[in-house]
Amino acid sequence: MTRAEITPSEARTGGSPIGRFAVLLVGVVAVLAGLRWLITPDLEQRNYEFFPDMATSLALESQSTSTVLATGLGQQALVAGVVPRGRLPFHYAATDEEAARAGRELANPFAKDDAAALTRGAEVFRVHCVPCHDVGGAGAGPAVMRGMLPPPPFAGANAMQMEDGRIFHLLTRGRGNMPAMGSRLDADDRWRAVLHVRALQATPAPQPPTPDANGTIEGDSEKIPGEKAEDPK
Ligand code: HEC
Repeated sequence: MTRAEITPSEARTGGSPIGRFAVLLVGVVAVLAGLRWLITPDLEQRNYEFFPDMATSLALESQSTSTVLATGLGQQALVAGVVPRGRLPFHYAATDEEAARAGRELANPFAKDDAAALTRGAEVFRVHCVPCHDVGGAGAGPAVMRGMLPPPPFAGANAMQMEDGRIFHLLTRGRGNMPAMGSRLDADDRWRAVLHVRALQATPAPQPPTPDANGTIEGDSEKIPGEKAEDPK
């Protein structure tokens, strides 16, 4: 097609089917935009729901108000003395006397040859206790390597004569720099950890991990500040 053959209408639309389609598209979009402007939806209103099903529930939202209950609230207060499932109350305060009482009154619900409890106890110990007490319970964990005051070794006279209940009290309430773990570990896991402490005490004390020439502790990729040896290169 030469220039002379293009009709005026072809010239307007670009002269090709694609060009005409583009013009049509722009027209349609413009018309739709105009309609939308004419309708101007009320943004405060929900869109029309075709199948609401159970999207809007009749149940009260928690924390909402209610005209049914005398308190005017949708949520009722717990009846006094309610014990939540899986969380038995611990009736021993965070004092030495109470720790001694726990030592007299409480016994480990797990037997010391309960293999499953021992396995779980070792895992709890690895995650929650090793940072301070180290794997063998000597009191030279990574936190101590980095300046925390060392906890007494489990093989020491004090820990050896502590009753299970007293250690459980210690894990639950904490003591000195030893953090309270009652909110972090459930009661069963605390008892299993006690079981693991007893198992450690029954085996000869392993040597605490010592940093090698590069200041690296086995199983710990970080260097100890100040103990890093010069690179031989
Ligand atoms: C943040 C460090 C830290 C963690 C984590 C920690 N402990 Fe301790 N632990 C200590 C310190 C510090 C003491 C000494 C407390 C004191 O001086 O009264 C201690 C004391 C103890 C004792 C008594 C030792 C004695 O001779 O009096 C036992 C048993 C014990 N911890 C077991 C555990 C177990 C089991 C865990 C894990 C569930 C654990 N600890 C987690 C720091 C820690």
